[in-house]
Amino acid sequence: MTRNAFSRRTLLIGGAALAAALPFRTLAQGAGPAIHVMKDPNCGCCSAWIEILENDGFAVTTEASAGTLLMRYKLDNGIPQEMASCHTARVEGFMIEGHVPVADIRRLLADRPDAIGLAVPGMPFGSPGMGPEDQREAYDVLLIRRDGLAEVYSRYEARS
Ligand code: CU
Ligand code: CU
Repeated sequence: MTRNAFSRRTLLIGGAALAAALPFRTLAQGAGPAIHVMKDPNCGCCSAWIEILENDGFAVTTEASAGTLLMRYKLDNGIPQEMASCHTARVEGFMIEGHVPVADIRRLLADRPDAIGLAVPGMPFGSPGMGPEDQREAYDVLLIRRDGLAEVYSRYEARS
């Protein structure tokens, strides 16, 4: 606990020094990994997921795409149709499909497996951006392998 608090403080001090050096690129929000999200502009749950990422420090950029164009983008980038969800994101060369929790994205970026990325197929109730987590249905985060198959990356049990 103390150790964590200390390293966080060190980070903050480092951030302040950086902010002084680069006056226009500052603050914790948006200082994290850059992630680009393709999404239907009319989709509310996509925006809710993006907000969660922004609150966690990700620098989010978005691009409007929908229907067959968005599905084409998913397929072209190695996301199998049966793993599709609403939005599709790219972060540091990895694809993120759907309402993937921030913790899994962070773990992916730390582990850097030789894989396409992560997917939460469909839009499970209670996944990030999809309603109250304390009422969520069970869902899996899948690691999309380069051969197009998937393995369970993490499992979220149902709550109610
Ligand atoms: Cu959604
Ligand atoms: Cu979405």
